[in-house]
Amino acid sequence: MVTKSIAVLAGDGIGEEVMAEALKVLGEVSKRFGHTFKYTRAPVGGAGWDAYGSHFPDQTRAVCANSDAILFGSVGGPIGEAALPKWKGCEANSILALRKAFNFNANYRPAKVYPELAGLCPLRPDIVAKGIDVLVIRELLGDVYFGEHRTTGEAGQRRATDLAEYREDQIVSIAHHAFRAARSRRKKVTSVDKANVLDTSKLWRAVVQEVHRDYKDVELEIMLVDNCAMQLILKPSQFDVILASNLFGDILSDEAAVFPGSLGLTPSASLNADGFGMFEPSGGSAPDIAGKGIANPIAQILSAAMMLRFSFGLNSEAAAIERAVEQALASGAGTRDIHTGAGRLVGTAELGDLVARQIANA
Ligand code: IPM
Ligand code: MG
Repeated sequence: MVTKSIAVLAGDGIGEEVMAEALKVLGEVSKRFGHTFKYTRAPVGGAGWDAYGSHFPDQTRAVCANSDAILFGSVGGPIGEAALPKWKGCEANSILALRKAFNFNANYRPAKVYPELAGLCPLRPDIVAKGIDVLVIRELLGDVYFGEHRTTGEAGQRRATDLAEYREDQIVSIAHHAFRAARSRRKKVTSVDKANVLDTSKLWRAVVQEVHRDYKDVELEIMLVDNCAMQLILKPSQFDVILASNLFGDILSDEAAVFPGSLGLTPSASLNADGFGMFEPSGGSAPDIAGKGIANPIAQILSAAMMLRFSFGLNSEAAAIERAVEQALASGAGTRDIHTGAGRLVGTAELGDLVARQIANA
């Protein structure tokens, strides 16, 4: 039995309502397994702006620093209001700042097709039938994201540069993540790069191959990123773990996130070297459906499961949530985004109830 403190950063849009369901499910877990979870709520994104005039307030940072993990909802506002100070730069100011503040260098983004929801996958049925279960592991602190960004004006001609940088130790760390993760899966890592053009990619490839020497039981495949983008659509069943740099991982993980059929199904984890982490749905704040009780809470619930596994080492508890989600989905119940003709259309809270009940009755 453990006691853990969790920083709850629900954020904007659908954040609050899907977070409520994740906390409901965690409540069932704590009852069944006898753990104590203590929650401290703190505002982030537009909510942070309203409360403290900052997308990532110092107060929120302090709450995170004093917690054992961060459970994050989503941030951002309606596209039509993007120019307002409340929303301008909101995602980058909060998400990138959190990554930097806590050195979250490793990002896990799983995407799989649930058999009972296979019809939602936009790929052809014969492609889906071969099985789709991919884990994108993305480096999160290097590359073009944190290098210098600059826009200059020369003789009336504007010019912009973004510096992409990788240090060897950054690649070593993320490569270990990928090989270790593959060991508990299907033992294959596809490392993605653009080594036919970029020096950062040449270093990436060389270092990944060096780290691979410690993992002879895992197959390493090297793939150019443009080919990978194509192969993901043509034959996704060939992939187990995809290891990618920050920018390539950003793009490929969104591509993979369409496989399950809804962004409302895909969780993610961002970890630092101490195992401290931030856990969040891959999707955004979906302001268009916020407050209506129709958002899909599964991604937030599965993010809580990743938190139990990665930050607290509570593997059976995480597996119990994942099983409960599969059972709830197999019952045919689904929110609007995953609802199929034969199934039962339910709201956010009802889907959360179904998952919670599976845990209570297991
Ligand atoms: C993501 C997002 C962020 C990123 C944006 C909001 C800065 O797209 O988490 O994938 O590019 O990393
Ligand atoms: Mg992205």
